[in-house]
Amino acid sequence: MRRLAEKVESRIDRCRLMELPRVASRQGSITSVEGNVEIPFPIRRVYYLFDIPGEAARGGHAHKKLEQLLVAVMGSFDILVDDGKRQKRFHLDRAYKGLYIPTMVWRTLDNFSSGGICLVLASELYDEGDYYRDYRRFLQASTPAR
Ligand code: TYD
Repeated sequence: MRRLAEKVESRIDRCRLMELPRVASRQGSITSVEGNVEIPFPIRRVYYLFDIPGEAARGGHAHKKLEQLLVAVMGSFDILVDDGKRQKRFHLDRAYKGLYIPTMVWRTLDNFSSGGICLVLASELYDEGDYYRDYRRFLQASTPAR
């Protein structure tokens, strides 16, 4: 039981900012990400959030199985991650930086700059059954039974 609790506690520390490979020249830059190479999962889906009003919050959910990498390919935004025990806030503002988020982390995106675009590389196809959208249910699932 204690080992399970330790696993839950360490989940927030597995959220990490990653500097992605960048090929820069006077003509501009290229950043590429390969699944299972720069990031610890195969990429099965790509989606992006755009036209986000500055006052809007997106996300507010966790995934049972899905891992993801978020990138501010344009502009900037903040990400609040929460594993049910601890929270951390990150800021993304460069197209060559990503935030890796493992499974079972509640994440909320806000403070989008004007024109901000969030690219999401995801380990799974879209599956509504993989979501926790109710924070209390997420907490119940992420806290080991006593
Ligand atoms: P959701 O993941 O809930 O985004 P957010 O938490 O940022 O609001 O998705 C919003 C809606 O878009 C939801 O009705 C499901 C739909 N959707 C898809 O159909 N396919 C996808 O790949 C994604 C990410 C969302």
